[in-house]
Amino acid sequence: MRKTMLAALVVVLTAAPGIPAPPSDAQVRARVDALVAQMTLEEKVGQLTQAGGISFGGGPGPEEALRKGGAGSVLWVNDTKRFNALQKIAVEESRLKIPILYGLDVIHGYRTIFPIPLGMASSWDPSVHERAAEVAAREARAAGIHWTFAPMLDIARDARWGRIAEGAGEDPYLGAAMAAAQVRGFQGPYLGAPDRLLACAKHFAAYGAADGGRDYDPVYVSEGQLRNVFFPPFAAAVAAGVGSFMAAYMDLNDVPAAANAWLLRDVLRGEWGFPGFVVSDAFAVRNLLAQGFAREAKDVAARALVAGLDMDMASGTFAQHLVALVKQGTLEEAQIDRAVRRVLSVKVQLGLFEAPYADEVRAASVLADPQHGAEARRAAQRSMVLLRNEKKLLPLPQSLTNVAVIGPLADSKADTEGSWMVFGHVPAAVTVLEGVKARLKSARVTHAPGPEIRREVPSFFDDFVPGPKKPAQTKEQAEAAFQQALETARGADLVIAVMGELANMSGEAASRSSLDLPGRQEELLRAVVALGKPVVLVLIGGRPLSITWASENVPAILEAWQPGTEGGRAVADVLFGDVNPGGKLPVTFPRNAGHAPLYYARNLTHQPEGSRQYRSRYWDGPTTPLYPFGYGLSYTTFAYSNLKLGAPQLRLGAAVTVSVDVTNTGAIAGDEVAQLYVHQKAGSDSRPARELKGFKRVSLKPGETQTLTFPLGPDELRYWSTSQKRWLQEAAAFDVWVGGDSTAALHADLSVVP
Ligand code: NOJ
Repeated sequence: MRKTMLAALVVVLTAAPGIPAPPSDAQVRARVDALVAQMTLEEKVGQLTQAGGISFGGGPGPEEALRKGGAGSVLWVNDTKRFNALQKIAVEESRLKIPILYGLDVIHGYRTIFPIPLGMASSWDPSVHERAAEVAAREARAAGIHWTFAPMLDIARDARWGRIAEGAGEDPYLGAAMAAAQVRGFQGPYLGAPDRLLACAKHFAAYGAADGGRDYDPVYVSEGQLRNVFFPPFAAAVAAGVGSFMAAYMDLNDVPAAANAWLLRDVLRGEWGFPGFVVSDAFAVRNLLAQGFAREAKDVAARALVAGLDMDMASGTFAQHLVALVKQGTLEEAQIDRAVRRVLSVKVQLGLFEAPYADEVRAASVLADPQHGAEARRAAQRSMVLLRNEKKLLPLPQSLTNVAVIGPLADSKADTEGSWMVFGHVPAAVTVLEGVKARLKSARVTHAPGPEIRREVPSFFDDFVPGPKKPAQTKEQAEAAFQQALETARGADLVIAVMGELANMSGEAASRSSLDLPGRQEELLRAVVALGKPVVLVLIGGRPLSITWASENVPAILEAWQPGTEGGRAVADVLFGDVNPGGKLPVTFPRNAGHAPLYYARNLTHQPEGSRQYRSRYWDGPTTPLYPFGYGLSYTTFAYSNLKLGAPQLRLGAAVTVSVDVTNTGAIAGDEVAQLYVHQKAGSDSRPARELKGFKRVSLKPGETQTLTFPLGPDELRYWSTSQKRWLQEAAAFDVWVGGDSTAALHADLSVVP
């Protein structure tokens, strides 16, 4: 009831004149009922089938299936003309004229590429992420896409896992804020809003906790961790109205996520009331055989459907077996109908029946909108994190006359844009070299990439990158490239080293067992620093890297992530001080891969780092992070003072306001991200040493002070208790800290009383 009233309110507030209001729930239901009543069993199963627009392994294309009403959705097509041609088959040649729902991975932009999601999370500014998703939606929808397989909401605490690049990092609170922002950005105020997409919360659930950080490997996490850590971004997406979910590939506590009735039925639908549909990951239904979940394809099809999976992405297993399973009585047709209704409801809500085609002329003009580039530049500026700045080397003076920009990522368009490009996308990023050259028009700006870096094991995504493949450098060629880069550095007054990882070194199937700078990059960096020149390290990549040596020896380090189309310009904006960096790390930087998983919200131990016995943890070095969660410098400085609680005591169920003064104590304007952490000192379960429960990014002029307030109430103080098997808020003592990162020292005591 409340939901319906809310939906009505949203419509009243948002339906602009001339734009059709969305259909009511009753209208959607009536339309779906009418369709389902006319459908054959085969047509119903067709709606639960997503066909690949390109086939892996040379199978038939989707045309034939569409004519028979056999594909409710198509993915992996990125061509407006082909979209329209396929759609024509569905709406003119199939019996019931049900339009296709086109899905594609529009992850951090369509034509205009924004920073990767990990970079966007570093902005600690959900409004930037929302706007990026809105621009991506506008472009993709104009080109004919209806549905994006984003946002990825997997909490990732192990930097070895390649897909850490695609999410918001390690923290459930920040992750939930970014999740809701992206859903709002992609979908707009309601499902079917003009120029928006259907979003898909993926990969449900806990895919980021793969054993050893190895992609696709099984996950073992407790129900407490699921509910306190891995679920919150997904629950936030449901609350924000996300229309679809994607089940994860891997086994979760020995039950594959794609056929996990507890996840898909009990939690997602039962507890959270998710009304949309659930798609598998690509080929995941068939993969259940490889996972040893059943011996025959028909069994996995039945078990996945019964567990709550509605659509089979690309594997064809539903298409091959569901009809027969109903005919032989293993499944009831009503079980198929439930899934079909969910898929059709979304199609009706999206307005596909009224407007199935893309307008090719309009698409061209939307994709050329210069405003989108300006938004991407701003997003990239806000996502950068300054990790080190000794003796105020940055910002650089505009008066520089002789600069070398070296490193394998200094002039690579594809790697500046990053992982997860949409199919057929031609990278068009401004590189860091181009950005610096544009800034220093009359200076000498030289460049040498140094030895190439490449994966030891190639990525299957490399096949989709347009253009011929380069053969690997020989040892001699690499040595010559090394010497050339060193000479280039020697001939300059200042060196900007652009290093890190290639686009294909993070993302799907891109896990690593080391977090070092790949190849000979660190060796080159050491040689360049030994020249005695000032060196700035710009990191491009999709994960935290263990840059311990650089963190002690390179005077300035800027984490730029994979900054997107406008990346090089945004890096130059920050390096030359037009923009004061204000991003903060959404993930802990470990000292080396052996520390993974390393995250700030750990439980306390009886022998913490720093105790006299600490060698009982690691005897070969400290266990503290290289850079903590929430960390990031600025060209100015900030001070925190006056931490106050509205009341020192709080009754269970009530809320209190926490206030703090933040002052810009430096000489230039800048942004600070104030972060609030809490710790429950004792209770039914052990609780993490700190948990983020509030944050605000603010801009402050030199000398300016702002008083910030944060609410602390049951939402922030409750947790799912493993010992009690339920959500709990307890009468207990709490620590409260506010500051600029997860080591914040400004402290207050809070006591919650019955
Ligand atoms: C596999 C990936 O895991 C998923 O994130 C993606 O959306 C699908 N493939 C579709 O491309």
